[in-house]
Amino acid sequence: MTSLAGKRIVLGVSGGIAAYKAVEICRRLMDEGAHVIPVLTKGATRFVGRTTFDALASERVQMSLFDEDDPIPHTTLGQTADCVLVAPATARVIGAYAAGISSDLLTATLIATRAPVVVCPAMHTEMWEHPAVADNIATLVERGVHIVGPESGRLAGGDEGAGRLSSLADIVAAVSQALVVGDQRSDMAGLSVVVTAGGTREPIDPVRYIGNHSSGKQGYAFAEEAAGRGASVTVVTTVDRPGPLGATVVPGFTVVRVDTAEEMAAATAAAAKEADVVIMAAAVADFRPVDPAGVKLKKRDGVPAIELEPTPDILASLGASKPEGQILIGFAAETCDVADNAAAKLNGKGADYIVANDVTAENAGFAHDTNEVLVLASDGRVHSVGLRSKRQVAQAVLDLVVADRDGRANVR
Ligand code: PMT
Repeated sequence: MTSLAGKRIVLGVSGGIAAYKAVEICRRLMDEGAHVIPVLTKGATRFVGRTTFDALASERVQMSLFDEDDPIPHTTLGQTADCVLVAPATARVIGAYAAGISSDLLTATLIATRAPVVVCPAMHTEMWEHPAVADNIATLVERGVHIVGPESGRLAGGDEGAGRLSSLADIVAAVSQALVVGDQRSDMAGLSVVVTAGGTREPIDPVRYIGNHSSGKQGYAFAEEAAGRGASVTVVTTVDRPGPLGATVVPGFTVVRVDTAEEMAAATAAAAKEADVVIMAAAVADFRPVDPAGVKLKKRDGVPAIELEPTPDILASLGASKPEGQILIGFAAETCDVADNAAAKLNGKGADYIVANDVTAENAGFAHDTNEVLVLASDGRVHSVGLRSKRQVAQAVLDLVVADRDGRANVR
């Protein structure tokens, strides 16, 4: 985590009932030593008065593109901010930001900044689940915006559901985390990291296979985060890097393409021999056809009886032959009893950590841009990482790994 002391944080507050919580966020950021500049939308002032922020923040509230002393307040705010935080962010502000529309000082500042941006949505469940909002959030995540929450719980009017502003502690932590990314850490420099990503494909015949829904997004998020922090990364994967850059070559980033569990096992074992950290984010098929057909199976021949056999358990064999000092991270894709099933995998596979995701949870697991995980460590620690971008999940897990390595080095 980066200290917030001296950091210039633009605190954008938009017009939802959760605006009253922004007062406390402002106070907490101030307590951490940040320089807080509140920017309120007109809607926000229907829920909370600007005098409150004037009294608490480092600078007086700004609201207008035109009436401030500064002739171009949005560019000054955007250029001088270390981080822009929007809490709460309404569907309107999220939509305007995603579409590049600057209709007020807050949205203009968002578009004028190159600083990390943290957006904390809060709205009613129906609005949060509307495809337009979901698309806008996906666009922002793709552009590197940090999305925090929302949480599920009690909403205005007594309804229950997804859409409640995240906890204030999570929001302040996310600002600190976003600044870490902005600071371009290099705390994994010199480390060799192996990441598996995507779902394996086990052939039934030359045109069909047993597969799963893994997109590789979570694995690549780990790979990119580790490379961004200075590690040299090998990705053993069944899929291209998601996003517009696809298969482009990235420095410090080697991609080994495989299809089946067998191929992934061989490539991962070879790469893992010299690795400091191995991250098994791939969804590896547990079973494969014993004898895939050499030609396409024909419907006219009836429903085939396909005999299955287990695939090699890559994680378990890496756990059994782990070199001294290597940190091995397994995943658990669960649909129920997440913590118990993950604990069983942690104990059974010789991993140092298991990152467990409930793949039935909303906006989490397969193919989403966001995830929500429970991290179980072999020493009994359990960390909960709430819903956030897959890159932020990777950051949180790699923070644990780096702290773990530092701790081990100090003990030696
Ligand atoms: O790729 P995304 O669309 O972004 O989705 C991310 C994800 C849901 C795939 C990812 O977060 C995840 O949970 N990956 C693990 C999926 C999985 O195979 O879980 P599992 O509980 O079946 O396996 C447990 C662990 O053993 C995993 O680390 C897996 O890689 C490993 N395994 C499983 C079977 C096998 N034969 N060999 C293995 O090494």
